[in-house]
Amino acid sequence: MAPSGGQAAPNPPEILSPDVIAARVKSLAEEIAAANAGRNLHLLVVLRGAFVFAADLVRELHARGIEVTVDFCRVATYGDGTEPGVPAVELYHPETLTDRDVLIVEDIVDTGVALEALLEAVSSAAPRSVACAALLSKPSRRRVTVQADFTGFIVPDRFLVGYGLDYAGRYRHLPYVGSL
Ligand code: IMP
Ligand code: MG
Repeated sequence: MAPSGGQAAPNPPEILSPDVIAARVKSLAEEIAAANAGRNLHLLVVLRGAFVFAADLVRELHARGIEVTVDFCRVATYGDGTEPGVPAVELYHPETLTDRDVLIVEDIVDTGVALEALLEAVSSAAPRSVACAALLSKPSRRRVTVQADFTGFIVPDRFLVGYGLDYAGRYRHLPYVGSL
């Protein structure tokens, strides 16, 4: 019998399990720590999809001796809903990026349009360096030649949700990455 108050939608099938994600976040943190020994990183977390990945990544970086500061930004893409439009990057505190080693933390690089705009916006704030860590990448969808410096998983061209990623605001809380 369905519970009262509406029908529960089935959870999307799992593509990446919580254990597989956790292991990869650890090894990504190792790669990032090795490339940034002796530096303090300023993480720029792209809202909203990267919040879960970032929460795990900061603690794995700390465990490897990398101290971080954390800020957030947003990329709004004004398109017709199916085709990406011109992305508008919202940096809340651009002045804090100057002379810092900035690590952009993204959930997924899909067409690459958002990351390209982010790299341009961050660069114009005169950081000491800028790099990007993305949990997921869909290279088959790329429209601009950009890639993250640190990529967790290469994924097929499917719409993915969970571990921060949403579809229409749903599924961000799932502990795994699933496919709709
Ligand atoms: P891009 O500009 O096409 O690279 O897209 C970047 C943004 O689109 C990501 O940061 C996500 O917020 C969103 N996105 C792209 N593919 C997916 C997906 O499969 N699931 C959820 N969000 C996605
Ligand atoms: Mg995003």
